[in-house]
Amino acid sequence: MNATHINNMNYKELINIEKLPQHISIIMDGNGRWAKKQGGTRIFGHQHGVKPVYDVVESSTEIGLKFLTLYAFSTENWNRPKIEIDALMNLFISTINKELKKLIENNIRLLVIGNINLLPKNVRNKLLLSIELTSKNTGLTLVLALSYSSRWEILEAVKLIASDVKNNIIDAYNIDENTFKKYLSTKEIPDPELLIRTSGEFRISNFLLYQLAYTELYFTETLWPDFTKNDFYKAIYNYQTRERRFGMTGEQIKNSTR
Ligand code: FPP
Repeated sequence: MNATHINNMNYKELINIEKLPQHISIIMDGNGRWAKKQGGTRIFGHQHGVKPVYDVVESSTEIGLKFLTLYAFSTENWNRPKIEIDALMNLFISTINKELKKLIENNIRLLVIGNINLLPKNVRNKLLLSIELTSKNTGLTLVLALSYSSRWEILEAVKLIASDVKNNIIDAYNIDENTFKKYLSTKEIPDPELLIRTSGEFRISNFLLYQLAYTELYFTETLWPDFTKNDFYKAIYNYQTRERRFGMTGEQIKNSTR
């Protein structure tokens, strides 16, 4: 099989629907570099980053994925120029305005993780309304990480736990992984089995640090605006070819699936 063949491969057909991950998370990266290559502004790049968002959401509903988390805006992104931040906030609002009806029709539940108190009031209110209106949906749960960073999330959890210990609501000696998870913003969400990062960067960038403990990592050179449904299926196919060992030996895994 030559390289052209591989590029033309229809990865959706190769996916084993019986062995889908429950939760895929994506670090959507490369909008700025994509725009530069086109001779456009960074904002132009973000505008072209919306189509792949639609595509991965649509693909996820097509194959029956349960959870999809998209890293849309990090705590560190607040340090970007104001004009870029404003443009991103407008993109979030306009996309939700356009798509809310479709989310409801397609049985998609919207959740947001992150410090939403830092978001402009109109963005925050729109998000809260959309979360409320889709809260009963039972299909895909689409999680937007907005104004999110993992260290922020872990510190928030520590503060809440400290307060509950002080008020005798929980006992410090009985805190285990299950207790800790309940204080994270992902309390209703299983850990991702697969993390995809686009644009050829090999970093986690303060994203789901606690939840990624056993996650399979998939990096692609493709810049986010060029990321297609087939690229998404390819990442899932690649995940399905791996052996997940959770610290055990390959032999133990083989015996347990016999
Ligand atoms: C990273 O690329 C991308 C972002 C910080 C923003 C992501 C936003 C979108 C994809 C727009 C639409 C999203 C939704 C949820 C409607 P970068 O700017 O860091 O690119 P660079 O590393 O090439 O500079």
